[in-house]
Amino acid sequence: MKKPDMKEARKRQNKDINYIKYDGIKEQFGKNKKYYVRTYGCQMNEHDSEKICGMLESVGFKPSDEIETSDIVILNTCAIRENAHDKVFGFLGVLKHIKDTTNPNILVGICGCMAQEEVVVNEILKKYKYVDFVCGTHNLDNLLSLIEQKIETNNRQIEVLSYEGDVVEDIPVIRESKYSAWVDIIYGCDKFCTYCIVPYTRGKQRSRKKEDIVNEVKDLKEKGYKEVTLLGQNVNAYGKDIYTDYNLANLLTDVAETGIERVRFVTSHPWDFTDEMVDVIASYDNVMPYIHLPLQSGSNKILKLMNRRYTKEEYLKLYNSIREKVKNSSITTDIIVGFPGETEEDFEETLDLVNECKYDGAFTFAFSPRENTPAALMKETVSEEVKMDRLHRLNEVVNKYSNEANKRLEGTIQKCLVTDISEKDKNKVCGYTENMKLVNIKGPKSLIGKIVDVRITDAKSFSLDGEYVK
Ligand code: SAH
Ligand code: SF4
Ligand code: F3S
Repeated sequence: MKKPDMKEARKRQNKDINYIKYDGIKEQFGKNKKYYVRTYGCQMNEHDSEKICGMLESVGFKPSDEIETSDIVILNTCAIRENAHDKVFGFLGVLKHIKDTTNPNILVGICGCMAQEEVVVNEILKKYKYVDFVCGTHNLDNLLSLIEQKIETNNRQIEVLSYEGDVVEDIPVIRESKYSAWVDIIYGCDKFCTYCIVPYTRGKQRSRKKEDIVNEVKDLKEKGYKEVTLLGQNVNAYGKDIYTDYNLANLLTDVAETGIERVRFVTSHPWDFTDEMVDVIASYDNVMPYIHLPLQSGSNKILKLMNRRYTKEEYLKLYNSIREKVKNSSITTDIIVGFPGETEEDFEETLDLVNECKYDGAFTFAFSPRENTPAALMKETVSEEVKMDRLHRLNEVVNKYSNEANKRLEGTIQKCLVTDISEKDKNKVCGYTENMKLVNIKGPKSLIGKIVDVRITDAKSFSLDGEYVK
């Protein structure tokens, strides 16, 4: 058993990262067995789940939508806020019931960021005895061995490393979409924003080699993929750990030059966002004009306490330069309210900045203290009631601007990558515009997988309606 240690996880070791190839398991121990994976959290976790599915299927497991009759259920978890925890523990309760009644042999496992937390693993050891295995984020490539050992010995397996592992290439993946693919470019995060648990759960910043990334994109293009999204907790730090003269601007250029039809990237930290990157986004038609640029707070005092390392003036300068240079850009953001020390004036500064930036959309959160992070040790000064009130007031402003941004598109023609049948109306299809707006489209199913022109007929709060043109 290897348990996590959050103090160790804070350290950054000076050793070189190894780049290795995935070492599969030949034995088909999943033959005639079914699996179910539930994913929480960010896009990196969604892509990790695609790897979990890929590894499981490589030894014979088959996917299932039904939990009750599955042989193995894996929860790929997120630790970013307390409510992410609550959801997972709630679902574990459901699984316990299934194990106690209809399916006592079902194997239950936990992966992802919660697996990296000391408090969580201790709680699982004490109270959740029916969890069969816990596999951390740094050794995900070892998942199959853990499952195999559990099956062979019937002993529960806990293996969580508190320092980052190697960069493992060629882990098999089963991708959710046939048209749009996630591509990891950098793992981990070294920014240590004081509220954030990610640097502890995902370890040191580690870039993939540029040729591995570009080859993956070329391969996806050959397979018919229209879009790739380059992934990292802070993609703008790409290359800093392994190259002296190659950065995200260079990588975006090389990926755009493969000719894949759409290139996206998430998430950008404003601190590392260079003019060169803005220029590359502006100059390539296939680099999509959509940028997620987390602000977190509009108060310089709070930004400093958060260790964000930019001022609101620097943020605005970057924001305006993107708006000026990138045609038809859409910019979204993340904002936290109720950080320790946030006064009404600080909060109003955030509202002022939102009023100035008029974002296309924003994800807004109430501060949630996370285990062992510096902000969790700061004295909380904002009551839950005030947090909720600020969140509510912020959302009103945010929604006003996202509605306006949507309204501006009414009557225009937008290029959409059609990906699915619409969830709202089974007779329609749906897809995303270049600047990442969801459109429900009147048009035939045969459009799925294509990039087509769509006339926007109506703007709703969180989506657009449109009709197929050509
Ligand atoms: N790497 C990304 C963010 C990843 S987490 C970045 O740096 O922008 C996504 C968002 O969750 C963050 O941008 C932040 O707004 C929010 N968040 C992170 N930790 C939080 C916490 N402890 N409480 C509330 N919100 C949090
Ligand atoms: Fe967390 Fe900050 Fe890293 Fe984003 S940049 S993952 S908010 S520490
Ligand atoms: Fe959550 Fe981990 Fe992503 S904490 S947001 S799943 S990196």
